Amino acid sequence: MKLTDAQKQRIEDLLQQMTLEEKIGQMNQESPSIVGGFDVPFEELIEMMTDGRITKEEFGNIMSNAKQDFHEDEIRKGLVGSLMVQDPVKVNELQKIAMEESRLGIPIIFGLDVIHGFRSVYPIAIAEAGSFDTDLMERTAAMAAKESRSAGVAWHFAPMVDVARDARWGRVSEGPGEDPYLGSQFARAKIRGLQNDQSSTENYVAACLKHYVGYGACESGRDYNTVSMAMHVFYNNYLKPFEAAVDEGAATVMAAFNDLNGTPCTVNRFLLRDILKDSCGFPGFVVSDANAIRECEVHGICADDMDAAIQAANAGMDMDMGTEIYLKNLKEAVADGKVSMEVIDEAVRRILSVKMWLGLFDHPYVTEEAMKRYETLPEEHTSLAREAAEKSIVLLKNEGNILPIDRNAKVSLVGNLADNKEEIIGAWAMSWQEKDCVTILEGMKAEFPNVQYFPCGGPEGDLNMDQIIKAGDYGDVIVAVLGELVSMSGEASSRADITIPGRQRELLEMLLTTGKPVVLVLMNGRPLALDWEAQYVPAIVEAWHLGIQMGPAVAHVLSGAVNPEGRLSSSFPAFTGQCPVYYNHPNTGRPGSKSKFTSRYLDAPLGALYPFGYGLSYTTFAYSDLKVENKEAVIEACVTVTNTGDRAGKETVQFYMQDVTASLVRPVKELKGFEKVSLEPGESKTVCFWLEKKDMGFWNNEHVYCLEDGKFRFYAGGSSGDCLMAEAAIRF
Ligand code: BGC
Repeated sequence: MKLTDAQKQRIEDLLQQMTLEEKIGQMNQESPSIVGGFDVPFEELIEMMTDGRITKEEFGNIMSNAKQDFHEDEIRKGLVGSLMVQDPVKVNELQKIAMEESRLGIPIIFGLDVIHGFRSVYPIAIAEAGSFDTDLMERTAAMAAKESRSAGVAWHFAPMVDVARDARWGRVSEGPGEDPYLGSQFARAKIRGLQNDQSSTENYVAACLKHYVGYGACESGRDYNTVSMAMHVFYNNYLKPFEAAVDEGAATVMAAFNDLNGTPCTVNRFLLRDILKDSCGFPGFVVSDANAIRECEVHGICADDMDAAIQAANAGMDMDMGTEIYLKNLKEAVADGKVSMEVIDEAVRRILSVKMWLGLFDHPYVTEEAMKRYETLPEEHTSLAREAAEKSIVLLKNEGNILPIDRNAKVSLVGNLADNKEEIIGAWAMSWQEKDCVTILEGMKAEFPNVQYFPCGGPEGDLNMDQIIKAGDYGDVIVAVLGELVSMSGEASSRADITIPGRQRELLEMLLTTGKPVVLVLMNGRPLALDWEAQYVPAIVEAWHLGIQMGPAVAHVLSGAVNPEGRLSSSFPAFTGQCPVYYNHPNTGRPGSKSKFTSRYLDAPLGALYPFGYGLSYTTFAYSDLKVENKEAVIEACVTVTNTGDRAGKETVQFYMQDVTASLVRPVKELKGFEKVSLEPGESKTVCFWLEKKDMGFWNNEHVYCLEDGKFRFYAGGSSGDCLMAEAAIRF
């Protein structure tokens, strides 16, 4: 986020001219409130729809009938720094008030939850991270930036980079999974994609890293729940993707709802000031999560609104999302000496810097041309969405090589989810995006001339016996599209039982009794507990919520036109009771084994059913010759990978490390690198990783970085659960 001296001066000049009220106005973010008929903020209305208190139709009716208050009067008075609006005409109208009718003409920054696409929707993050393709991650972010900026949205509340290891938590869908290294690569790629193309102000947006920090470790996977963790776990895992993204230049950060070790992140001076702003050198601004400043009162940390405003501002919270607590209290707090002018000026300087860097002062409006640019989705956007969807699909099981399916086969396509546009775009998608969705049924019809559709049942409701019998009679093969509704993952969507919901397992049982080969295509927003399915269903394809091109992507993988290459960014347990399950867990004194007094369950397998990094292909790969060389500043690890099957395919070669003896208990494996290689049948390639020795250490509880001599193990393979290993003694 580089500013010229002239831009910096412009900000200082403004600060000189601004009244205290105007400064506090910059620290205030509003969203349109619905007035008349429905007296809740717009955001809450969205939440009500998401959590089922009102239906989508009811929401639509309310929206079309209700009048919205866009806070024009406050904008005129310079009391609104940011607004959540997505309609370019409205953006221009409100921006005009800010630019022409407010005293100092400071532009508004319009922000929105553009989580995995704006106009075109890409796979949910947990899926896209599994592509292990950072170039792809960057390109989808860049496309989302262009699309949203053309509608005036210059600020994305993304990427969500919370490390998440408990699949019960619904928000695992929104982030890049369980691993801090993959999460950091994802975070960096997203920042580059959203922010780096500054050739025109129409090409980039400000990213917002969220949710800072530890939100993914909410106790028992229940959303918004308390978070307690040892500081070394915090520094080495949960903080990592945030540090990486700040280093990459992230412009803004959103604080998490949760408390961390007793202090809500919203008022956590240690997290916001000491770590983020001082230690990481973050130059942008911090926004609260929705309503979070007021929620500190419910946490039992702030006595009232005034106390919440004082604690949040002093902790380093620069912008209030949605409560007007700053607007109504900070002036008095400053007058009483409870919050200093330096604190206010610092926050405003950060906010104005981001606006300046975005070019909003000189290009505040959306042009007519930009507004029309994506009325029809250009082919390159659709094909990028398809590429992302194809690369995110993970083949979990393929017994007897049922897959790929011959294009001329008679296919019985089963499952209500297969014919539904709403259910393929995933959490945080918006209704206008549905029109570009291609369903699995449509995708299958284009790929398999002899497909017939039998809905039979879905995540909710009854099964249709008549259809099940017909599906069994018709197909040479049955493709069952089952899983979760979009509303079962995402915010406020934790589940205590993460098996396939409703009567879908029963449906699978019935399909299996037909004797026809059954392919299970899963649509879901989290790892599921698939013990039963893994035992009885011969082929399983993890297809997540893949976005607008889900249909063609699934069909291409099923026909073999595309050889699956996605990997799991999060481990799948066999049973819900194993959660949290993750590959990089600390060593115990009694690692789980067959003997009784070891770290294990009596009634569940050891570890994950499908571990992090796992995923099959229509070809097979073999690893040999792992050689580790201890060079001066790096460890060089080379391994040979051979395509031992009869198709070309892409393998994700993964490189892990273990610090065997250290002053703190270390993980059994830590990802340190990955590389995707394309191999023709019979072809071998040697893949090398160079691990810098300075990156082999860890942070202790006192935030001291430790590089300790001793034995290390290095692993290379196609999954965290299946690697070659070499050992070396290392001195630093
Ligand atoms: C979510 C954030 C989101 C914000 C604004 C909150 O409920 O936790 O992730 O960015 O709403 O919509």
